[in-house]
Amino acid sequence: MKLYINEKNQKGYIHPEIYGHFSEHLGRCIYEGLFVGEDSEIPNVNGMRSDVVDALKEMGIPLLRWPGGCFADEYHWKDGIGPKETRKKMINTNWGGVLEDNSFGTHEFFELCEQLGCKTYVNGNVGSGTVQEMSEWIEYMTFDGVSPLTDERKKNGREKPWKVDYFGVGNENWGCGGNMTPEYYANLYRRYQTFVHQYDKENPIQKICCGANVDDAHWTSKVMETAFDHTPEHFHGHMDGLSLHYYTVPHVWEHKGSATDFTEEEWYLTLSKTLYMEKLIQMHGAIMDQYDPNKVIGMMVDEWGNWFDVEPGTNPGFLYQQNTMRDALVAALNLNIFNKNCDRVKMACIAQMVNVLQAVILTEGAKMLLTPTYHVFHMYKKHQGAQLLESFLETTEIGTEEHKVPNLQESVSMTKDGIILVTLANLSATDSYPVEMAFAEKRSTSVKATILSGAMDAANTFDKPETVKEEAFEDVTMNENGVSFTIPACSVISLEIC
Ligand code: AHR
Repeated sequence: MKLYINEKNQKGYIHPEIYGHFSEHLGRCIYEGLFVGEDSEIPNVNGMRSDVVDALKEMGIPLLRWPGGCFADEYHWKDGIGPKETRKKMINTNWGGVLEDNSFGTHEFFELCEQLGCKTYVNGNVGSGTVQEMSEWIEYMTFDGVSPLTDERKKNGREKPWKVDYFGVGNENWGCGGNMTPEYYANLYRRYQTFVHQYDKENPIQKICCGANVDDAHWTSKVMETAFDHTPEHFHGHMDGLSLHYYTVPHVWEHKGSATDFTEEEWYLTLSKTLYMEKLIQMHGAIMDQYDPNKVIGMMVDEWGNWFDVEPGTNPGFLYQQNTMRDALVAALNLNIFNKNCDRVKMACIAQMVNVLQAVILTEGAKMLLTPTYHVFHMYKKHQGAQLLESFLETTEIGTEEHKVPNLQESVSMTKDGIILVTLANLSATDSYPVEMAFAEKRSTSVKATILSGAMDAANTFDKPETVKEEAFEDVTMNENGVSFTIPACSVISLEIC
């Protein structure tokens, strides 16, 4: 298989936020997974577990979205500030009906992001919250002047305002966020976003409008038509991003399929459904182009990943699932797709970061493990802030009668340090392939490669946490025409070429 790379054609900036993450008040994501409280025996800094924070920093987390998801449209931020003992308790109606004691709130979220060194994406409540409530949250978080709300923030221990990089005006307002029509939501968006004031003119908050579920072109079209006036003055600053949610669900919602116990047929089914992401980006992108031909508004794929049946014996409302090499391939394919569409896709958040859905980290008490998906993010991290390079890969069609996919898929970038980074996925469950890379002009002098491989259902468990891990890949040959190697079945390779 030949991989052609034209290092002379840089095709666009890969926004680091494409490698973003999502943490919702759902199951054991926030509580236990990230936040254990100051008095926990699990080592922590101000309540944030240190093992998880260190692993996420090493992975290169650029952005974190919080507090939901469906939870966001039932979240009232004032319940989550002030002394913990007096914080209001509530039932988490969306996720398992468990008690939410609000011990993780606004201050804790920003503390976590400060420890991670990542950008902040706060999702506001349109479904059951008022404009005043949203406007006051923005003031509490970002205003540096004199006001009762800034006094309250100071009283609660934070002198200076925080930086809100992104603010979501509602979540899934076509569903759990209020079951709205696109026209109705878009008018609410106009109103709510007006009160997301820009107190820090140097660092404006980027406003994200609720976009479509999967292939709902009608939603995209009506929201783009209605949410702002199509004049130059109104265009800028009214909408910086439009979200898109697409999960890979192998079967139907009532029976999605097991995370670990699956057939080769289901392997190809899952990968082919993942590749549908590219069509969705192109389809919604074409509608956005009608209103925004210069691609000023980002497509923010702020929920993506595998959604399987929960692990047997766990709370169905907690969405806890294992993670195998199949998840690694799904992550690799999606991230390559986002890279290749970086002219429009300016952010993406995998759902979710810890212990929920396609998590990069799983925890059990004081134990923590890195999933195959974690390793993919680690192998891809230098794509963040790089320039996408033109590439073309010769492929053949593989799979089963019903579910066809290309055998290989790639993306290539020029990193900030001038290194060419190639990330390549082998979608075959059984076959390896020889790969020859050819550059336009470049004569490579050195190559450093790592690989993630294993059986299609290989997973890390708390007893064997390193079954699947990133390893050095030495079997690479370099000559004056390029670089060649054989990519094993069911694997992801990352090559850094100087
Ligand atoms: O990630 C789980 C849920 O999926 C989110 O809360 C919601 O936005 C989506 O339906």
